[in-house]
Amino acid sequence: MKWETSDPENPQGREILHIARELVRAANGGEPPTVLDPFAGGGAIPLEAGRIGCRAIANDYNPVAYLILRATCEFPQKYGRPGKVTLTPALSHREREYSRPLVKDQQEERDVSNVLVHDVEKWANWILERAREKIGHLYPPGKDSRPVIGYLWARTAPCSNPSCRAEIPLLRSLLVCNKKDKEGGSCHGY
Ligand SMILES: C[S@@+](CC[C@H](N)C(=O)[O-])C[C@H]1O[C@@H](n2cnc3c(N)ncnc32)[C@H](O)[C@@H]1O
Repeated sequence: MKWETSDPENPQGREILHIARELVRAANGGEPPTVLDPFAGGGAIPLEAGRIGCRAIANDYNPVAYLILRATCEFPQKYGRPGKVTLTPALSHREREYSRPLVKDQQEERDVSNVLVHDVEKWANWILERAREKIGHLYPPGKDSRPVIGYLWARTAPCSNPSCRAEIPLLRSLLVCNKKDKEGGSCHGY
């Protein structure tokens, strides 16, 4: 199976899912079976069980795994749909630190096509802004003034020449990728 066919918007993917659901049902006397995963972790098994039409019951005793499990199996179905969100004006760091809670008339309601996507973007940006404020200075822009999108971490050893002793990174190559056709994506030489 090609990766793209796992996309439910892909017609071939839809067809494969349909066949899988029918085969599972046929193997279980015409009824979709119930899958119990008592140690479900992030929920890969109940998620896939749901995709092929089974009822899934999942459990985990680790609260972090439990939250990821709900975010995998429950939240997309509950919140991944059109709806209303409340927008609040962006505040500067100083305003955030010292302002009183926002009054209602500073907030605005808006319809969005997917509430979950909107919320994930909103809070991811919220975290990013605060991380930038606190530790952004530790990640300066590259030589071309563009933001650095990744770092290669390497152990170093002092140069064996006693008059040098420079820290030498223990790396085979500083190139992440040297294929011409891959340069446009995330694969740049450093
Ligand atoms: C290997 S992970 C499961 C990975 C999962 N099948 C997946 O594909 O993502 C095992 C999980 O079992 C959970 N676990 C271990 N002992 C447990 C117990 N007694 N009750 C509930 N969960 C337990 C752990 O917290 C862990 O998240």
